[in-house]
Amino acid sequence: MTLACLAGNAVPEPATARVGIVTVSDRASRGVYEDRGGPAIRDYLAEVLTSTWEPCARVVEDEVDQIAAALRELCDDEGCCLVVTTGGTGPAARDVTPEATLAVCDKEMPGFGELMRQVSLLAVPTAILSRQTAGIRGSSLIVNLPGQPKAIGECLDAVFPAIPYCVDLIGGPYLTTNEARIKAFRPKSAKKPGS
Ligand code: MTE
Repeated sequence: MTLACLAGNAVPEPATARVGIVTVSDRASRGVYEDRGGPAIRDYLAEVLTSTWEPCARVVEDEVDQIAAALRELCDDEGCCLVVTTGGTGPAARDVTPEATLAVCDKEMPGFGELMRQVSLLAVPTAILSRQTAGIRGSSLIVNLPGQPKAIGECLDAVFPAIPYCVDLIGGPYLTTNEARIKAFRPKSAKKPGS
């Protein structure tokens, strides 16, 4: 029994944040090869988030309708405050993740793509081939990552400091991070006491 219970105070449990993880890949969705991107995103979040969270993972083909349906479901039905996609951001004919993302979003958040490309360019010159973006659907932030598993950490390290405050601003749960790994930035007025 907690002290709060002993004192008779009802202290609400912190809301469990749900995070959508969408692997966009024809081959992974058909089982031709193993999905490595989705598990890499889950491992990254497990390392960085200290507030309670649970993953909601999906693997879909490189089709606008399938990607958009998964994004709508994760945002609207599963209540994910954050949805991270991997794959389908390049120039090839079947790379349509940014189109599906923008089709379901109320607002684009272009700074995410700009920053991720900037830091990725330090690692690989082909970073300019990614059209990765981000946007807001209702109370959910959707962020695109390239399909290369090593791009996941490179990109998320750059934008993650801004994600908890962005989630605050759209009415999501209060996310906290392992500060030795990623220091989330919030203006003083937005910080919860003790966080
Ligand atoms: N960004 C990072 N950080 N690391 C990478 O290896 N690969 C690039 C680019 N961005 C890459 C990256 C390449 S080669 C391509 S084609 C585009 O992302 C698009 O990849 P996608 O279609 O798998 O999303």
